[in-house]
Amino acid sequence: MATPPAFTAHLIAWQKVAGRHDLPWQKTRDPYRIWLSEIMLQQTQVTTVIPYYQRFLDSFPDVLALAAAPIEQVIEHWAGLGYYARARNLHRCAQQIAAVHPGKFPKTAAQLAELPGIGRSTAAAIAAFAFGQRVAILDGNVKRVLCRQFGIEGFPNSTAVDRRLWALAESLLPETDIEAYTQGVMDLGATLCTRSRPRCDDCPVKPDCLAQREGRQSELPEARPRPTVPERSATFVLISDGHRLLLERRPASGLWGGLLVPPEGEVESVLARLGLTAISQHPLPALKHAFTHFRLTLQPVLCQVGPASALGEPGLEWVEIERAAAAGVPTPIKKLIRQVASAAD
Ligand code: ADE
Repeated sequence: MATPPAFTAHLIAWQKVAGRHDLPWQKTRDPYRIWLSEIMLQQTQVTTVIPYYQRFLDSFPDVLALAAAPIEQVIEHWAGLGYYARARNLHRCAQQIAAVHPGKFPKTAAQLAELPGIGRSTAAAIAAFAFGQRVAILDGNVKRVLCRQFGIEGFPNSTAVDRRLWALAESLLPETDIEAYTQGVMDLGATLCTRSRPRCDDCPVKPDCLAQREGRQSELPEARPRPTVPERSATFVLISDGHRLLLERRPASGLWGGLLVPPEGEVESVLARLGLTAISQHPLPALKHAFTHFRLTLQPVLCQVGPASALGEPGLEWVEIERAAAAGVPTPIKKLIRQVASAAD
């Protein structure tokens, strides 16, 4: 028989002495009990699941009892566990097994994965624990373990990395002891190789772990990439007559609709449009502001104009510099105006 990879051998040996052995769904080969535990454990911690699991089995001792129960009663038993689609799928799955497989669970991961609420990893866990099938699991915890151990870069739920992780998970399967191995990789992810502050000193696969060797436990697995938002920039002309700022009301629709904002555009064209002549002009420090769908760099230019400059267009208002920041202007514009106010002090 081929020697298992070091990772696999170490994990099996560790699971046997240090893994979890007394969970209520262990020490059974009943696929109904194993299936129920795996569904309950999909988004929920072991300690939360245990009392629900026991109450559920008291009321619905086998798959036929569950299939025959009204959905309302099933939901009642689920109340508090959250993610209620799981309860509805559980009931549908029980009814399908009652009808299609005359009360018997199918015995392979591929067939189990056809049933409602059973994804590829859950199907594999059931097939391994109930039937000893040699199949790979790959839930979020296992992905974290593999990404760290083997230094897998990239977001683990991206198609390419997910595919690579499944292939890796399959390549690590032992010839025997699939139950201890499957439970071991779950136990490692849940108890030692946790997302934050992993307990590497107690880890059975520490010597070969790339993340541990390179101190990259907090970088692996990689976080979901932030969607890149477009970058825009805009010039705002802060026109001052010495003690007032010229603000312009924006059109009702579009960015900052209806708010007062300094005229936007290149200095020369803004001055020409407003019929103004600058005595002096100089740029102020740029300011970045993040909107939901883009990021804006605001480039302010302070322009001094002579006293009594006429207002060439409707929608323009001279506002005392000291009052301008409070005059119903958007937040990043407030910051620009404060720069002018402090420069004027
Ligand atoms: N999480 C998912 N499946 C589990 C199992 N069988 N034991 C403990 N935690 C789990």
